Amino acid sequence: MENISANGNASDKLGVLIVGLGGAVASTFVIGSLSVRKGYSKPIGSISQLSEISIKKGSEITEPKIKDIIPITSLNDLVFGGWDIFPESVYEAAIHAEVLSKEDIEKVADEAKAIKPMPGAFDQEFVKRLNGTHVKGTTNKWELVQLIIEDIRSFKKENNLDRIVILWAASTEIYVPMSEVHMDIASLEKAMKENSPEIAPSMCYAYAAINEGIPFINGAPALTVDMPALIDFSLKNKVAICGKDFKTGQTMMKTVLSPMLKTRMLGLNGWFSTNILGNRDGEVLDDPDSFKTKEVSKLSVIDTILEPKKYPELYGDIYHKVRINYYPPRKDNKEGWDNIDLFGWMGYPMQLKVDFLCRDSILAAPLCLDLVLFTDLAQRCGSYGIQTWLSFYFKSPMHEMGKNPEHDLFTQNAIMRNKLRSFIGAEPLDALV
Ligand SMILES: NC(=O)c1ccc[n+]([C@@H]2O[C@H](COP(=O)([O-])OP(=O)(O)OC[C@H]3O[C@@H](n4cnc5c(N)ncnc54)[C@H](O)[C@@H]3O)[C@@H](O)[C@H]2O)c1
Repeated sequence: MENISANGNASDKLGVLIVGLGGAVASTFVIGSLSVRKGYSKPIGSISQLSEISIKKGSEITEPKIKDIIPITSLNDLVFGGWDIFPESVYEAAIHAEVLSKEDIEKVADEAKAIKPMPGAFDQEFVKRLNGTHVKGTTNKWELVQLIIEDIRSFKKENNLDRIVILWAASTEIYVPMSEVHMDIASLEKAMKENSPEIAPSMCYAYAAINEGIPFINGAPALTVDMPALIDFSLKNKVAICGKDFKTGQTMMKTVLSPMLKTRMLGLNGWFSTNILGNRDGEVLDDPDSFKTKEVSKLSVIDTILEPKKYPELYGDIYHKVRINYYPPRKDNKEGWDNIDLFGWMGYPMQLKVDFLCRDSILAAPLCLDLVLFTDLAQRCGSYGIQTWLSFYFKSPMHEMGKNPEHDLFTQNAIMRNKLRSFIGAEPLDALV
C-alpha cells in the first residue's frame, strides 16, 4: 500500500508520549506492545492489528486486515516515553501494578527498564489522593506549559522522531466545570498566566501538544481538551484531538445493551451499576471530587441512546445510578455489576443482571494502541480538530457543540470503518464490516 500522507509517512518513527507512564494502563499498554513486536504475545482486543475491513472496488469486495490496507504506523516504529509524578520505569510500574505476570514482564525487561518518565506537571489540588515525588518544580500553569513544550522538543530530538502523539492515561482529575476561561484561547492563556484554579494540569499538557502540532488523546473523563478554546486552537494549528474516557468495561456493556432494549422497544425504569476496584485508579476515584468527573462521563450514555423525549412511555422515568467502590484486594481485576430493571408487553417487569469480572488495564491497553495509531493516521491525512469517528473508543465522546454524541457501539464501529475507508479513497459501506 502506498503511503497517502501529505504530512509524514507511515514508515517514519512515531513517538508515543504518555501522561501517566507509570500507571496500570500505560505500563500494560507499553509492555504489551513491546511483547507483541517481539512475537511473545498477540494484540488481542486491537482492531488496528487484528480486524479485517471490507473494501469495495466496482463489484468486487475484498477483506484485507486493516493493518495491511490502511497505512497505519507499524508497532516496530513506535518509540515510547512520557511523564509521571513517580519516577519508576515502565518495568517497575508494571511490576507494581500487578496486572501482568512477572514472566511476561521479564521477557521485555531490558527495553521496559530504559523507558523512564519525565517529571510530571502536577498540582495536588486536582488529584487529592496522590502525593507525587517526581514533579516539576512549579505549579504555575503557564510555566508548566513551557516546561512540557521543552520536554516534547527534547524527546523528539533525542529520539530522532518524525512525529509524536500524546496520550493522557493519567489519574482522573477533580471535576472542573466549563466556564468563561475555557471559551477562547486568549482567555485560556490569560487564566494559565494568572494560575487560575480553573486550569487543571491536564489542560497544560493538551495546550502544549496542540501548540507543538501534536495530536492529543484524552483517555480520562476530565475536561482537558474538550473545550471551545482548545478545539479552536486544534483547528487553527491543524491538530487531531479526541476523547474522552476510554470505553472499556461497564460502559461498553451499556452501549451494547441499551441499543438492544431500544431496538426491541422494551422499556427501562432502572439501571444500577456498581464496581469494586483496588488499583491506584480506584484509590483516586475514591475521592468524591475525582469520582464526580467519572460519574458525569458514565451517566450520559443511556439517555443519549434511549432518547427519553421521543419515547417517554418507555424511557421517560429511568433511575440511573453509578457507584465505584475502592476495594484493595481486587487490585486491577475490577468486578462490575449491573442490575437492569426493564419492562415488556403490557408493562410487565423483568430483570437483567450482568456480572463482568474484567481486567481494567487489559481492556484499556488495546484501545490505547488503536487510538495512537488512528489519531496519527488522521493527522497525516489532514483530519484535524475533534475526531468524532473515534467515538467507538470513548465513554463520553467529544462532539460538536449542539449535537448529540453517538454512543451505540455498533453504529460507532460502522462510522469508524467508513472513515478508515475514506483515508484510502475507498467507497463507504453500510454494513458493520
Ligand atoms: N483502565 C480502564 O479501563 C480505564 C477506563 C477508562 C478510563 N481510565 C482512566 O485512565 C486513567 C489511567 O488509569 P490507570 O488504571 O492506569 O490509573 P493509575 O492510577 O494506575 O495511573 C495513573 C498514573 O497517572 C499518574 N499521574 C497522575 N497525575 C499526573 C500528572 N499530572 N502528570 C503525570 N502523571 C500523572 C499517576 O502517578 C499514575 O502513575 C485514569 O484516569 C482512569 O480513570 C481507565
